[in-house]
Amino acid sequence: MSNVADYYTVVGNPIAHSRSPWLHAKFAAQTQQSMRYDRSLLDIGNFASGLSLLRANGLQGCNVTVPFKTDAFELAQWHSPAAILAQACNTLWWDAGVLKADNTDGVGLVRDITHNAGFKLQGTRLLVIGAGGAGAGILGPLIDAGCTHILLANRTRTKATEVVRRHTTLAQVRGCELSATSLDDLNGSDQQAFDVVVNASAASLGGQRIHLNDALFAPHTLAIDLMYGPSSRVFLNWAAERCNQTRDGLGMLVEQAAQSFAIWRGSLPHTDNVLRELRLIVDAPAP
Ligand code: ATR
Repeated sequence: MSNVADYYTVVGNPIAHSRSPWLHAKFAAQTQQSMRYDRSLLDIGNFASGLSLLRANGLQGCNVTVPFKTDAFELAQWHSPAAILAQACNTLWWDAGVLKADNTDGVGLVRDITHNAGFKLQGTRLLVIGAGGAGAGILGPLIDAGCTHILLANRTRTKATEVVRRHTTLAQVRGCELSATSLDDLNGSDQQAFDVVVNASAASLGGQRIHLNDALFAPHTLAIDLMYGPSSRVFLNWAAERCNQTRDGLGMLVEQAAQSFAIWRGSLPHTDNVLRELRLIVDAPAP
């Protein structure tokens, strides 16, 4: 164990709800590393100055959450291929003075689906709803995971088209048929059911449910919401009446954190027990 507490944080606005300090404390204990991990509320519109203040206080790296993932991407001087495809990042760190950026959200989701849920993505047909930062962040790793057909549907079609355009080369190389549509056209079309339907839209945040045709679901479909807690129930309760498997974003949260930890600290923590423990905390009835 090192003697110096290395300093990390999660930046966002709001940030009080973040589970990241709890997760990274678990990972640090498990891998016997000494590190400090805070929550930092940054002013919207002042991301760069907020981050440089943290850096002046010794910050070595941070997770980035809403609404700063694009600001973080733009500020970084080096970007991983995943961050470039997403045009957003959730992980920053300084390496020899260079601010580097990665996006571990998509790898985290894929690991949750394949490892935690035991669901094979190879050869599957996926529907992803939402082409904002969340949707863009997961597309590359889903293509890499061997899905053979991915349809990205967004309320605003042009946004989905642009995200798909960025991923076209990767999709071709991997043999994935990737296309974009609007939510209206999706519901009006004659689509067959998908193996996986991912809600990556922010609709549930406002308590709104995305309207999808029943025909998009089959009994074997896995329905996923990238959120967890009450927000995820808006979509998942509805989906549970149409398919047999649903999954919220808690596993993805744990897995993306583990991937960030590995980038900073050089060892990938085990996540199974951490996810089980966090599930109990999150699902516990409010006092
Ligand atoms: P995030 O980082 O969570 O993805 P974002 O970049 O602001 O946040 O993107 C929000 C996503 O949720 C977008 O895909 C948005 O659709 P538009 O691009 O058409 O705005 C989608 N979204 C938000 N509210 C929605 C709603 N009520 N119905 C459908 N889609 C919605």
